Amino acid sequence: MEFIFPKTFIPKRGENVYEPSEDTFLLLESMDEKDLKGKVVLEIGVGSGIVIYNIFKHTSYAYGNDISRDAVRFAKKNLKDKGKIFISKGTEAVKLNNIDVIVFNPPYLPRDEKRTSLENAFSEEECNKSIKEIMMKISKINKNIVFYFIVSSLCEDKNAIIEYATNLNLKIKLVDMKKLFFEEIYCFKVWK
Ligand SMILES: C[S@@+](CC[C@H](N)C(=O)[O-])C[C@H]1O[C@@H](n2cnc3c(N)ncnc32)[C@H](O)[C@@H]1O
Repeated sequence: MEFIFPKTFIPKRGENVYEPSEDTFLLLESMDEKDLKGKVVLEIGVGSGIVIYNIFKHTSYAYGNDISRDAVRFAKKNLKDKGKIFISKGTEAVKLNNIDVIVFNPPYLPRDEKRTSLENAFSEEECNKSIKEIMMKISKINKNIVFYFIVSSLCEDKNAIIEYATNLNLKIKLVDMKKLFFEEIYCFKVWK
């Protein structure tokens, strides 16, 4: 979909919030507006709030969470009184029966013991686990939830993700990809 990127979504140094980057833009470009129109959408890991801000152009029912208090504060400020942004992890505290679409641009830096706890929240281990947990939940629920997510070649082999989804009897499509300097990033769509 087409998107806009107001400057208020660029965090200042020290604000401890993920700055919208190539992966953010890939996710925004890859989402089909038809999947969002009038739907109940949950964004996991809102960061600056730029993704959910653009989702609001297609639906009034968008919710977002983040494990980082700084991100939730920053996104809430950007989104004003629109949507409900709350602190939580993955799909914990979310009733999936009420959700039509989930979007997630997960953390994917390799884990490094020298990093702060916030930086380690962006770790590879967390990335793989969260994506797989969500797919598992979607496969078990009696509802067709559409799931858009980003994977980096630094984090997981894309064929492993395809195999994981297929083994859960989910449909999976590689919607788009970008080649960056030291990695490739992919946007997948999963549904039943
Ligand atoms: C790569 S950033 C993406 C931010 C924003 N969605 C974007 O695309 O620019 C990942 C965000 O997810 C949050 N996060 C990481 N693991 C999470 C989890 N398990 N549940 C919720 N949020 C998480 C991080 O704090 C961070 O804000």
